[in-house]
Amino acid sequence: MAPPADRRVTLDVPTVRKDFPILDREIAGHRLVYLDSAASSQKPRAVLDAMDRYYETSHANVHRGVYTLAEQATAAYEKARATVARFVGAPSPRGVVFTKNATEAINLVASVWSRSADATARVVLLSEMEHHANLVPWLMLREERGLELRFLPVDDGGRLVLDDLDRLLDGVGLVSVTAMSNVLGTINPVRRIADAAHAAGALMMVDGAQYVSHLATDVGELGCDFLAFSGHKMCGPTGIGVLWGREDLLERLPAFLGGGEMIRDVRLDGWLPNEIPWKYEAGTPPIAEAIGLAAAIGYLSDLGLDSVRSHEQALTAYALDAFGERFGADLAVHGPPQACDRGGVLSFAYRGIHPHDLSQVLDSAGICIRAGHHCAKPLMRRLGVGATARASFYIYNDEADVDALVAGLVAASDLFLPA
Ligand SMILES: Cc1ncc(COP(=O)(O)O)c(C=O)c1O
Repeated sequence: MAPPADRRVTLDVPTVRKDFPILDREIAGHRLVYLDSAASSQKPRAVLDAMDRYYETSHANVHRGVYTLAEQATAAYEKARATVARFVGAPSPRGVVFTKNATEAINLVASVWSRSADATARVVLLSEMEHHANLVPWLMLREERGLELRFLPVDDGGRLVLDDLDRLLDGVGLVSVTAMSNVLGTINPVRRIADAAHAAGALMMVDGAQYVSHLATDVGELGCDFLAFSGHKMCGPTGIGVLWGREDLLERLPAFLGGGEMIRDVRLDGWLPNEIPWKYEAGTPPIAEAIGLAAAIGYLSDLGLDSVRSHEQALTAYALDAFGERFGADLAVHGPPQACDRGGVLSFAYRGIHPHDLSQVLDSAGICIRAGHHCAKPLMRRLGVGATARASFYIYNDEADVDALVAGLVAASDLFLPA
């Protein structure tokens, strides 16, 4: 009999693991069990090779030189932009702006929108489960420009409470919400929020930092006006993120940083902005990183994002079952109880042992998990905790990794709470 849908293994993990050289490493004499991909994923050989190849054969600055090498570098950089556009279902590469990371992409929108004529409605709707990247830029603007901030609450099951959505949207100019919580794993009903935002005359930004790497993404289906995400969480390098924006908005909104490729003309008494997307890319961009990100997208696309999602859902279901069977009420997982409602991120409390202590004991067995507030302090307060332990899964994790985590937790309990 076929296993139920959320138990179906859809990736050949041993083959995937061979593509990630770092997974051959040992830590403290143990095989590396990497369970912190929500913080940053590991990189496959295809990405490392694409970046090496670029530096070894084609590096020059982009958009400036008229010699062959510069033209090849520019073509590779712009090809990467087209690859990103296709990956998120964008109508054209013109809406794809390369940034340093998701944080910078969100800051970009916060900065240019709040300075624009579009911001006549000076109210922004966020949620209680946002990462600091989608909170602090807005808190700064509240102080500096007097924006009003409202927050969608989170219920005890780790889901957004949308009962009051229409009332909260009254007078709002922009909504910015994460598609997947980096603490709870909750997959949010972004389309529903986007439709309500648009009906109320507001723009919709989606923080896709935890989503784009794990689920097939289409900006049209999400119904958003802006989407922000980072390359390093999706097998790409650090130092590159993406802001996709609706082209009419990017054209209308003011520039972000000044200098370099973002100008059409400069005089001593003024300047004219370049066309989009370059209007938002000041200074020498992350060229090798864009090429690495395109290689990461190629790698993930070859695996198939639907397979990535089913694999993670199956592994999350396996972990939830294993936690329940082995630890019962001694281990509490935050967030939705069903794997189908969440990504492969499991934040938990275990027998009152401090998450940092847990993480240290697990580290001595080669197991990397995250411990802390996960850059979501308001959510920690909502959960009534100072910190959680967090294990997060990706394409190279399998049941053996979950089993190692369970064994590590038993060892931690034996150490800190001996019978
Ligand atoms: C939900 C969410 N948003 C934004 C970010 C910020 O990403 P970055 O640090 O790559 O800018 C993160 C990082 O963990 C995240 O989990």
